[in-house]
Amino acid sequence: MAKLNWGMIGGGEGSQIGPAHRLGAGLDGELAFVAGALDHRPEEGRAYGQRLGLDADRAYGSWQEMLEGERGRDDRVDLVTVATPNATHFEITRAFLEAGFHVLCEKPMTMTVEEGEELVHLANHTGRICAVNYGYTGYSLVRHMRAMVARGDIGKVRVVVAEFAHGHHADATDADNPRVRWRYDPAQAGVSAQFADCGIHALHMASFVTGQEVERLSADTVSAIPVRTLEDDAMVNFRMDGGAVGRLWTSSIAIGRQHGLTLQVFGETGGLRWSQEQPNQLYYMPLGERLQVIERGEGNLSPEADRTSRVTVGHAEGMPLAFGNIYADLAEAIRARKEGRTMDPAANLYPRAEDGLRSMAAVFAVAASGKAEGRWVDARPPMFR
Ligand SMILES: NC(=O)c1ccc[n+]([C@@H]2O[C@H](COP(=O)([O-])OP(=O)(O)OC[C@H]3O[C@@H](n4cnc5c(N)ncnc54)[C@H](O)[C@@H]3O)[C@@H](O)[C@H]2O)c1
Repeated sequence: MAKLNWGMIGGGEGSQIGPAHRLGAGLDGELAFVAGALDHRPEEGRAYGQRLGLDADRAYGSWQEMLEGERGRDDRVDLVTVATPNATHFEITRAFLEAGFHVLCEKPMTMTVEEGEELVHLANHTGRICAVNYGYTGYSLVRHMRAMVARGDIGKVRVVVAEFAHGHHADATDADNPRVRWRYDPAQAGVSAQFADCGIHALHMASFVTGQEVERLSADTVSAIPVRTLEDDAMVNFRMDGGAVGRLWTSSIAIGRQHGLTLQVFGETGGLRWSQEQPNQLYYMPLGERLQVIERGEGNLSPEADRTSRVTVGHAEGMPLAFGNIYADLAEAIRARKEGRTMDPAANLYPRAEDGLRSMAAVFAVAASGKAEGRWVDARPPMFR
């Protein structure tokens, strides 16, 4: 079976997220890395692309060049990943969708709710896939958690508690470092810093696992380091459309916390707890029984978990493999379309443009509520009200 062709924009040498995408996309031998516009500096992008093995004519100097070069080829890329800085996502994703490519866009998908709605409409209109890289939902045990909630193992969900709190921007003496400062500057980052960067991962995971969408929220946002305009810490209370009550804490000043993405779900007959820094264990407490530790790779968990586990139980799997599961979903979705068949339902879990849009609506809701001393606000995008 021929490999699908894959290309990426952004993710140049020294970037944070480029290597995880290349590892994830290359994991199962489904996708061949054949094209890229990897850097905002054309020559560096071309040179790095070739060092990574791209042919010289497909190591492009810009995304516009890549669009022109790829659209006319018979062997054009089947999927394009957009892993550039946030403010460029919308323009690049829109251009590639319009040209008929499937796209995996990094989060946040857009900078505004209106742009998000436009991408949802465009994906529907063109029939192309517009996925968003909430890559942490690719972890096998996150998918198992979702399956357990869906099959009723913990009963009706009462409360979901999500955290994404790290301490990497806690040093007030480093606040003026240009690599840190732009994140808290509305001119460059938009209406939110920490919630838009990290909080949306946790909020999306709460929806992914519970199968419920956020309807309204109340936020307490602060800039604990006073020179910052945007928030570096936020506590968000929310209500979901299936009746669940949500709590979310996100922070970049939590000294001692490293990555700090954790989800807990409490239902009428059980509780679940998963933490990204120990992703190979899921803690399950059935009401009135003893605490159970579910290990990734045990086998015979759920189809969604078994499909996304590659390494023998007791051997750690981590973040690039979680990204690999998003790519595996997308490869299956693209192949199913090419072959005119229904896709494997256990693979039909990749985050969509609708999820990116819901996140953007939540970002604006958090910013508005934070300014209004925690007033409860509608968190749904207008098109889903
Ligand atoms: N899903 C996740 O878990 C996750 C984790 C980290 C970052 N991200 C997202 O990934 C994106 C990139 O983040 P990063 O930390 O890797 O950033 P980075 O600054 O480390 O790297 C950005 C890369 O994009 C390149 N670039 C910039 N503009 C470009 C353009 N116009 N055309 C081509 N290349 C261009 C840069 O040269 C650089 O190589 C951001 O949107 C961020 O929010 C997602």
